[in-house]
Amino acid sequence: MSALESLDVSAFTEYLARHEKKSLLRFLTCGSVDDGKSTLIGRLLYDTKLLFEDQLASLEKDSKKHGTVGEDIDFALLVDGLEAEREQGITIDVAYRFFATDKRKFIVADTPGHEQYTRNMATGASNSDLAVILVDSRYGILTQTRRHSFIASLLGIRHVVLAVNKIDLAGYSEDVFNRIVAEYKAFAADFGFHTFQPIPLSARFGDNVLERGPNMPWYTGPTLVEHLETVDIEQDLVAKPFRMPVQWVNRPNLDFRGFSGTIASGLVRPGDAVVVAKSGRSSTVKAIVTHNGDLPEAGAGEAVTITLNDEIDISRGDVLTAPDNRPEVSDQFAAHLIWMADEPLYPGRPYLIKLGTKLVPGQVTEIKHKIDVNTFSELAAKTLALNEVAVVNFALSEAIAFDPYCEHHDTGAFIVIDRISNLTVGAGMVDFGLRRASNIHWQALDVTKESRAAAKQQKPVVLWFTGLSGSGKSTIANLVERRLHSLDRHTFTLDGDNVRHGLNKDLGFSDADRVENIRRVAETAKLFVDAGLIVLVSFISPFRSERQLARELLEDGEFVEIFVNTPLDVAEARDPKGLYKKAREGKIQNFTGISSPYEAPENPELTLDTTAYTSEELADQIVAWLDKREYFGAGSIFGDYSI
Ligand code: ADX
Repeated sequence: MSALESLDVSAFTEYLARHEKKSLLRFLTCGSVDDGKSTLIGRLLYDTKLLFEDQLASLEKDSKKHGTVGEDIDFALLVDGLEAEREQGITIDVAYRFFATDKRKFIVADTPGHEQYTRNMATGASNSDLAVILVDSRYGILTQTRRHSFIASLLGIRHVVLAVNKIDLAGYSEDVFNRIVAEYKAFAADFGFHTFQPIPLSARFGDNVLERGPNMPWYTGPTLVEHLETVDIEQDLVAKPFRMPVQWVNRPNLDFRGFSGTIASGLVRPGDAVVVAKSGRSSTVKAIVTHNGDLPEAGAGEAVTITLNDEIDISRGDVLTAPDNRPEVSDQFAAHLIWMADEPLYPGRPYLIKLGTKLVPGQVTEIKHKIDVNTFSELAAKTLALNEVAVVNFALSEAIAFDPYCEHHDTGAFIVIDRISNLTVGAGMVDFGLRRASNIHWQALDVTKESRAAAKQQKPVVLWFTGLSGSGKSTIANLVERRLHSLDRHTFTLDGDNVRHGLNKDLGFSDADRVENIRRVAETAKLFVDAGLIVLVSFISPFRSERQLARELLEDGEFVEIFVNTPLDVAEARDPKGLYKKAREGKIQNFTGISSPYEAPENPELTLDTTAYTSEELADQIVAWLDKREYFGAGSIFGDYSI
């Protein structure tokens, strides 16, 4: 008999089929440094005779080949997950591992225990359905246990296993176990966990991991693997109202227009009424299209293409939803935010917010309070540092559809992306929508910016001078304004030192205050542009983000960034106000160029070299530059004068 003939083909086929249909549980392990996470994971992999194991951190695309037949699909899944994170530049020290039993497939996120790795834990938790929280029987509940449980709860983990580990070192004591469970339940009572399974175990010797073992006859609950195999995590989503964030509009030809995406929650069938959350437009489902033909029904987690019976306007980022249970739509919401970047969060700074498939600019308008994750007390804060958690208000540049995170994870979670570096800098959970601006409408004005500008025979523009203190910004701006004034142009100057005496007199020189300083000035400059004026703004404005914010508030051609490029040593040698001297003596804190950063512009419209030209010459260059671009109307006001 050949080897082939000896193989029980039908059993093998059945095995493969069963394996493919097995559900997937993603979970993370967390706990303090020495609670035995690695031992537990090692034990799980060993006891379940894993089919393969890998450190995704070092995974290369070609390692797909290493999977055994049944695992190819899952392996791709793992790689995808990691790639998405890489794209966002999260440096994760989360190791993902894969294993399977007869009943289920598992992906474990092994997150580091140290306090400074909270963001890694958050990264792991945001991809997981369940958390195994490890506690060392000898030490019981520690600060780290509370912190991790709190973050897991914030990130919407609703299924928790309290693994009371190293129980062998506590004499397999039922009392010790009960005491730890009671203590845990007391502080986690409000965390909203749907299932909570405490298990006494010894990762080292294997008690209650896969097998029960003889040492704890008093424990009658499931072993860890039994629980992981059977805990019900899926039905939650299907039972919820229908939501499908549209990933892309699939329009291969004029006869077909489908909306593709992964169903976030609920069920959908042909004939069902659906509504586009933001616009409120409705239609009915014509078909649910997949590679393998049309479906009679699709539910949470399935990637499908839906066609509708009516031609309605839908684009990427829209959410298709059940008509009788719709998400909120607003451009402002309150949220919990976990900050994940070394660079602090500044209220007022523009970031990108990605919620579902929608990407919009937005900013934190207010930090209500930050939360001490060790004591859960509320603390006042002006900025957020790495790993800090806070309750904040967000304002977005347009209204979007969302659900409170506690009701819907996929439509209530968002990430915050830095606009300059394109890195993910925060993870957020929507608490509820704010309707602040909903009763305030734009007042239509009959005299428009265009008519005001035409009356003044000029194109309104902001000349934004940025550079170090003492670089010559104000001197040059002043000369430019005098020239424009003598040419009968209508101008106004906003100068840092002056505005800080009035509108911004509540602000100092911390990074957070400078962000707010520039935000207000940018908004003010925009108002003056609406008034039809040529606005000269002379502020150090040290951060690229806020100069970009100013640029984006205005229309094309209305923002001219002028980099007054005077090196620090030259500005310091000039020291017109004696401030550098004081700063060097330590009498002024946070002085730009000395104890506070200056981010030079990357693509300014104009760069002025104050070491090679006089202020008069540079002012002339600016006026000529504007004239050439017809800011004073068509045709040069100087005739053939040019520079
Ligand atoms: S910005 O950084 O927020 O744009 P702004 O242009 O408003 O600064 O104000 C800068 C002016 O404030 C400087 O020209 C200087 O006269 C004065 N000043 C006082 N303290 C500081 C400081 N710590 N850093 C920079 N400028 C300071």
